[in-house]
Amino acid sequence: MEEIDRSRVPQHIAIIMDGNGRWAKKQGSIRLVGHKFGVGSVRRVTEAAAKLGVRYLTLYAFSTENWSRPAAEVEGLMKLLSSTIDSEIGDLMKNNVRLKMVGDGRLPEALRRKMEKGEEMTKGNTGVTLTLALSYSGRWEIADAARRIAEKVERGEMKSGDVSVETFAKEMQMSFLPEPELLIRTSGEQRISNFMLWETAYSEFYFTDTLWPDFGEKELVEAIAEYQRRERRFGKTSEQIEDGGSN
Ligand code: IPE
Ligand code: IPE
Ligand code: MG
Repeated sequence: MEEIDRSRVPQHIAIIMDGNGRWAKKQGSIRLVGHKFGVGSVRRVTEAAAKLGVRYLTLYAFSTENWSRPAAEVEGLMKLLSSTIDSEIGDLMKNNVRLKMVGDGRLPEALRRKMEKGEEMTKGNTGVTLTLALSYSGRWEIADAARRIAEKVERGEMKSGDVSVETFAKEMQMSFLPEPELLIRTSGEQRISNFMLWETAYSEFYFTDTLWPDFGEKELVEAIAEYQRRERRFGKTSEQIEDGGSN
């Protein structure tokens, strides 16, 4: 496995878990089989992230656009999510993982309640924060923040002149998370697909051809190693960064 600098591991990694369908097709199985094996990757990657010292792991599990998939796949995915919570909650507790969910809440009632119960059970855990983006889209999150601000203005709690990048960011559903230093997308697609549009403004993007069910600790370490070879400039010049970013 590649060597990484343990003192410079990203504190927040976000992943667009893609390629389950193609993985299944390659095995001659139906798409849902790929999703089932994808759950195994979630388990492995969460454990590896904890081991490596990552504090926050955010996984794109279902987009608002994914509601347009064939009904049988959507239903299968919802059932899989539900059974996964049941089967994994014990290990999440044992591994000190804090579970969070973000999204527009448009989920089957029983699943939404189960997720909320999982959040409640794990809220005191101090290890990795595992956030699942479920029925989530970046545009929705931004529009939702704008709506909250408009409501505050209507109630007289805020003035339009108070709206800034900082006050806006506070209204985002993901405001409990630091911005991800690293965004990974598996399966060879190189697009954002409406994920974390606001928060990835300065994230490093890492694309790999590996399909999500084949992604594990080794692949995560490779992504972190690549991240550590990058120079993050935040608009400054390379010389400024080499000087320690102070001038
Ligand atoms: C990602 O895998 C999982 C979800 C979007 C739920 P896909 O289902 O998109 O797999 P491909 O892209 O068709 O291979
Ligand atoms: C993005 O994957 C959504 C998730 C990984 C949950 P998709 O497979 O749905 O993205 P597109 O449609 O190919 O862009
Ligand atoms: Mg896909």
